[in-house]
Amino acid sequence: MSAPTAFNRRILVVDDNQAIHQDFRKILCTAPASSALDAMEAALFGGPTTTPADPGFEVDSAYQGEEGIAKVKTAVAEGRPYALAFVDIRMPPGLDGVETVRRLWKEDEDLQVVLCSAYSDYSWEEMTQRLGLSQRLLILRKPFDNIEVRQLAHALSEKWDLLRKSHRRMEDLRREVEEWTRELALANERLRKEMEDKARLELRLVQAQRLESLGRLTAGLAHEINNPLSVIMASVGFLRSELDEQLAGRHPLDAGEMREVCSDALLGADRILRIVNDFRIFSKLDGHPQVRVDLNEVLDHAQSAASFNLGRAQVVRELQDAPAVQGSEPGLEQLFMSLLNNAGYATQSVPEPKVHISARERDDGWVWVEVKDNGTGIAPEHLGRIFDPFFTTKPPGTGTGLGLSICHGIVAGLGGTIEVESTPGQGATFRVKLPRSTESAAAPSSSSMS
Ligand SMILES: Nc1ncnc2c1ncn2[C@@H]1O[C@H](COP(=O)(O)OP(=O)(O)OP(=O)(O)O)[C@@H](O)[C@H]1O
Ligand SMILES: [Mg+2]
Repeated sequence: MSAPTAFNRRILVVDDNQAIHQDFRKILCTAPASSALDAMEAALFGGPTTTPADPGFEVDSAYQGEEGIAKVKTAVAEGRPYALAFVDIRMPPGLDGVETVRRLWKEDEDLQVVLCSAYSDYSWEEMTQRLGLSQRLLILRKPFDNIEVRQLAHALSEKWDLLRKSHRRMEDLRREVEEWTRELALANERLRKEMEDKARLELRLVQAQRLESLGRLTAGLAHEINNPLSVIMASVGFLRSELDEQLAGRHPLDAGEMREVCSDALLGADRILRIVNDFRIFSKLDGHPQVRVDLNEVLDHAQSAASFNLGRAQVVRELQDAPAVQGSEPGLEQLFMSLLNNAGYATQSVPEPKVHISARERDDGWVWVEVKDNGTGIAPEHLGRIFDPFFTTKPPGTGTGLGLSICHGIVAGLGGTIEVESTPGQGATFRVKLPRSTESAAAPSSSSMS
């Protein structure tokens, strides 16, 4: 026999017959010295025939169903529930055993019950109809066999204990799950906040980048306009003094010289006009809504706008399944037009000028668009300056040097980047990283820049 366990030994006997209570006490309260039960267990399963001290059970009595229910209620309230109740099936004048059991389980659903009956008061079907099918119910026929009663008490109180343990385990698990769920919710909330912070920081970074490129632009602007303006003022000043001389009759006008001076002034004015025009592009692009932009469409427009500079160059597009990007249509058109203009200009003197445009989606949600040419390439000492406003290697009066700085501003405004790789004599590759569009294809696109 197993060692005595510390499981609940509280038993309630509910029976209207006083004498029965004495019988139960005799069977359950005293520990049998070396009981027939032990002998039987030893014979069946082997092992010693002597049993370690069995403390017996604690037996309480109720003589009517109502009294039994009250006792179970109190026991539960005091935290000392019964493990088992032996309930007589017929207890006149009060509740019968089946009704008593039904109500006992309302007070304590773990209570194990043995219904005691002298003969078949109820059929099994009737009982299960009233009590439902239950693992907690056994039926014991009178007259009792002492060993059977004690065996039932042992088995059912141990069962009660196991049930309690499993309930407790379930409760622990439930609490653990609750705790994990709470922690998960907290982690989720932290993550959400961090993502919000990140988005805020990114927005500030984009704004800072835009401000920075605008700052660089305006810093160069004063200087760039100052030169042609000085030329214009000097030329016009000279013209006026020459006219004064002529009017005063001091010396005649030299028409050839006058024409040259006027040309200088016009060149200066033309330069200022170009700069102002480029700046107008910038201000026009600013504030355009960011929408889903189809790369093929935007490249069609950019390519036809740059067709003069592209000249003989063969343009190959390899966009495969490149997804739509998020940006302003006029901005992206301007961006690719500038890159294609530059590529066209750089390939002017190449025997077989080629421009290759490719796009692919990256796992990180960015779309890389590359514009590659086989032109002159960029000298290493220029690589770090080509995005600076007004940096140009074109002959004076040909370019403002604002093209790539405008490109940089447009891409920065979208949170993307623009990079260049070049080997002199072998061409240049501009790589633009643009955000993939999150809008669905059905969303309407914006109108193009007027
Ligand atoms: N594809 C390219 N191949 C070689 N050099 C390039 C290329 N793209 C740009 N560059 C170099 O970068 C410089 C700056 O380019 P950017 O477009 O800003 O101005 P620009 O083309 O000189 O003048 P603008 O664009 O006003 O006509 C160019 O002058 C050139 O030296
Ligand atoms: Mg350019």
